[in-house]
Amino acid sequence: MVLKLASLAFVAFATFVAGQTTQAALHSTSWNSTFVLSPEQRELGNLTEDLADQINNIINFDRTLLANGGPHEDEFYSLPIDLQIPKQPGKLLKLQEVTDLSPFAIPATTAMSRFIYSTTNFNGTLIPASAYILWPYHAKKIGGTKGQKVPTILWTHGTSGFYATGAPSTHRSLFYQDFVPYALALAGYAVVAPDYAGLGVGTSWDASSIPHQYGLYQAGAGDALNALRAALNAFPERLTSNYVSVGHSQGGSVGWGVPELLAQRNGQFNDLIKGHLGTILFAPQTDGFSLPPNALLTWVGKYLRQVFPTFKLSDWLTPLGVDRVELFDQVEGSQMVSTFLFQPEEEIVQPDWKNTWEAAALQQLANPGNRPYKGPMLVIQGDKDPAVSYNSTLATAKSTCKEYPGDLEFLGVPGVDPIEAKDI
Ligand SMILES: *[C@@H]1O[C@H](CO)[C@@H](O)[C@H](O)[C@H]1NC(C)=O
Ligand SMILES: *[C@@H]1O[C@H](CO)[C@@H](O)[C@H](O)[C@H]1NC(C)=O
Ligand SMILES: *[C@@H]1O[C@H](CO)[C@@H](O)[C@H](O)[C@H]1NC(C)=O
Ligand SMILES: *[C@@H]1O[C@H](CO)[C@@H](O)[C@H](O)[C@H]1NC(C)=O
Repeated sequence: MVLKLASLAFVAFATFVAGQTTQAALHSTSWNSTFVLSPEQRELGNLTEDLADQINNIINFDRTLLANGGPHEDEFYSLPIDLQIPKQPGKLLKLQEVTDLSPFAIPATTAMSRFIYSTTNFNGTLIPASAYILWPYHAKKIGGTKGQKVPTILWTHGTSGFYATGAPSTHRSLFYQDFVPYALALAGYAVVAPDYAGLGVGTSWDASSIPHQYGLYQAGAGDALNALRAALNAFPERLTSNYVSVGHSQGGSVGWGVPELLAQRNGQFNDLIKGHLGTILFAPQTDGFSLPPNALLTWVGKYLRQVFPTFKLSDWLTPLGVDRVELFDQVEGSQMVSTFLFQPEEEIVQPDWKNTWEAAALQQLANPGNRPYKGPMLVIQGDKDPAVSYNSTLATAKSTCKEYPGDLEFLGVPGVDPIEAKDI
């Protein structure tokens, strides 16, 4: 029997809605967050009234964009009660085959699935993470695509946040909207999109919290390949096992990690090598230290003790900086909250942070490139990009080509500043 994905999805969707009308009725698309910083929080951050008002405003905006109230309210993000703790990464733990789209703002001709799967953090601890799949109405016909399968894209997103609430799968428009996921789904591809560990599912099976290890691109690349593995298991009849990986910005560096992991000889992702057709990266961040220190040091410093147990945040940040990170944690702040909270730089950052050994160690771990990779890989970079330096991307591409001759192409796009500076 041959059934189109879309019609199948529709049948399942209708069943879903019929069974859960009360839940659907609760969904509101109105501006409904009423967050206010408490007096203790204002004091903790030493916030002026004006700054507190700005931050309240931003948080209300951010929270209003969360479908179903976000991961702390949306039942999808909680682990199954009868969960068998997996022993390996890439195991499917929970599948929402057809996501109710009423709280989302995605193209009418697409459908969505979400799932929770196992992955590992940077140091190899097994943890749960979430991902979505955006499905097209009509599968793109590509030579060799058999039956009703949809060609698969593995999409690694740029900086969307730092906490559970920063997951694209919980954002009403998947955080990136038209830029990649919608465009590709509308063109007939299935977009498999990991949130990255710590975004979406915030708590592990042992009740410990899962920090998002921002900047440790290989951890994100592992999350991506494990998500793909789980997705192929969930939808063996729908997804082609051939896939192209696509990434942007933070997800460009994570996406550079994907072919690096596939080139490793220890065989962690041997099952996904054959299907990998290539990698396309837009403005990959290959020099994490080009980020402003008040961004980098707060986004990374807040979890770094998990990686280097002797690390002290106070080696990088002033007492005010440390308190503001505590506040950032409490409110699960977004990138825009960070912009307001961690200013001015000299009041937040210790002047001699660069001399700490953790800064040197991080440099080794945060920048992709100059390692073996599985080609082909196409790197695209605008020369007016304010967030990712053209020169850094070009230099990394050149030195990688020199050290590891292979199929890597660099496409410089003159005059292009494709992305607002906020999309680092
Ligand atoms: C708190 O902010 C005020 C200005 O609003 C400033 O004078 C004071 O030094 C700040 N305190 C700390 C500990 O940064
Ligand atoms: C806002 O609306 C969503 C439904 O989209 C709901 O789940 C959430 O709880 C609401 N938040 C508040 C603060 O009322
Ligand atoms: C995590 O991995 C890094 C890099 O290999 C290592 O330096 C660090 O000691 C490890 N941390 C833990 C907690 O195992
Ligand atoms: C990038 O490299 C070019 C050519 O070497 C140089 O002229 C330019 O100043 C560099 N731009 C930046 C921002 O460093």
